[in-house]
Amino acid sequence: MPYTWRYNLELGVPAVDQQHKRLIVKINNLIDAMERGEGVEELRNILRFVESYITRHFHAEESFMMSIGYPDLPSHILEHEYFKREFQNLKQEIYYNGANLRTLMLTERMLCSWINEHIYRTDLKIAVYVREELLRSSRAA
Ligand SMILES: [Fe+2]
Ligand SMILES: [Fe+2]
Repeated sequence: MPYTWRYNLELGVPAVDQQHKRLIVKINNLIDAMERGEGVEELRNILRFVESYITRHFHAEESFMMSIGYPDLPSHILEHEYFKREFQNLKQEIYYNGANLRTLMLTERMLCSWINEHIYRTDLKIAVYVREELLRSSRAA
């Protein structure tokens, strides 16, 4: 399994943590399917999942950041918006050219870089901030 859930990513918001975990499992499933030569069949599944992930997860995560007055909210939202656009382009590409090895590779690359660049970095920063704030408020108490 190439991707693992890391406990330092935990935000303490069950819905958001669960969504991250599920996305990681789904991407691992896709990679496994590709290794078995069944990636193209798996493509529809993962696209459906990512579609609802984008709607539910981004909304839940952005609401949480807003509720804690997270200082990097604007740049975080920009990354979500960028991913949404990229995903729309990918869907169009698949709509016109079909599910094939090329669109499968494009999907895999996009999702892997989303984990590496966004979840493991940008989302991780929220968890770091939450822990620092907790520490600060426990010291002040
Ligand atoms: Fe995010
Ligand atoms: Fe996230």
